[in-house]
Amino acid sequence: MSYSPCLLKGQKALVTGASSGLGEASARCLAKAGAAVVVNYHSEKEEAESIVHDIVADGGEAIAIGANVAKEDGVKTMFAQMLREFGTIDILVNNAGLQKDAAFVDMTLNDWNLVINVNLTGQFLCAREAAKEFLRRGVKPDVSCAAGKIICMSSVHQVIPWAGHVNYATSKGGIDMLMKSMALELAPQKIRINSIAPGAIETQINTAAWSTPEAKAKLLQLIPSGRVGIPDDIGKAVVWLASDDSDYVNGTTLFVDGGMTLYPGFAKGG
Ligand code: BGC
Repeated sequence: MSYSPCLLKGQKALVTGASSGLGEASARCLAKAGAAVVVNYHSEKEEAESIVHDIVADGGEAIAIGANVAKEDGVKTMFAQMLREFGTIDILVNNAGLQKDAAFVDMTLNDWNLVINVNLTGQFLCAREAAKEFLRRGVKPDVSCAAGKIICMSSVHQVIPWAGHVNYATSKGGIDMLMKSMALELAPQKIRINSIAPGAIETQINTAAWSTPEAKAKLLQLIPSGRVGIPDDIGKAVVWLASDDSDYVNGTTLFVDGGMTLYPGFAKGG
């Protein structure tokens, strides 16, 4: 896929959880559009470094920074390093997230806390650090008409309840209100905050749902568009929401789900 390398020229982006999946695709797409990118990772250092290597080999700019987004100190250290190396931040992609699935009555407090801490508190901590820098720096009209952009990676499960995944669905419902409340508070300062709600996209997080023909056939019954998404479907949406092309879009969720939220069970009934 190709973008005008001018679209995000001069902009500095941080993508959390960028060593694989949607974060990796977001980082690669942002770099193709001209942004300098921090590829954040938690444990997959080699994978993150290899993504950085590819971006640099392609003429882009990237560095890898390790941090657990659920830890306040780690987040602050990561932002300090980014500001030291890149000078500022223009785009935050709040992507890091995980699942720890269990039947509700078997869900441990640890399963609950882990998912809420990474998926929801992690987005709060990173957004807060990014917003502080956006406010400090303000708008640089030759770079972007916004003082900063935050893209929160949500899920169709911010609206679709999910049995066996109560912690995950709750974290995504929380992201929706976090995103909207931040957007309302920060819009006057020219900060734009939006979410992307992916449906089923082929990544490690949901391999079991698409990697066998039986599982895939079952999954496709939930996707009116008739295909499972690929990470670039999300990367392209990230670039658009990060660019001035979406300048009037604020506080909203872009569903990139092949129609999964259209109540596919009603395609032929009701
Ligand atoms: C989940 C995937 C799931 C998809 C659609 C995503 O948010 O992480 O595991 O396949 O939603 O249900």
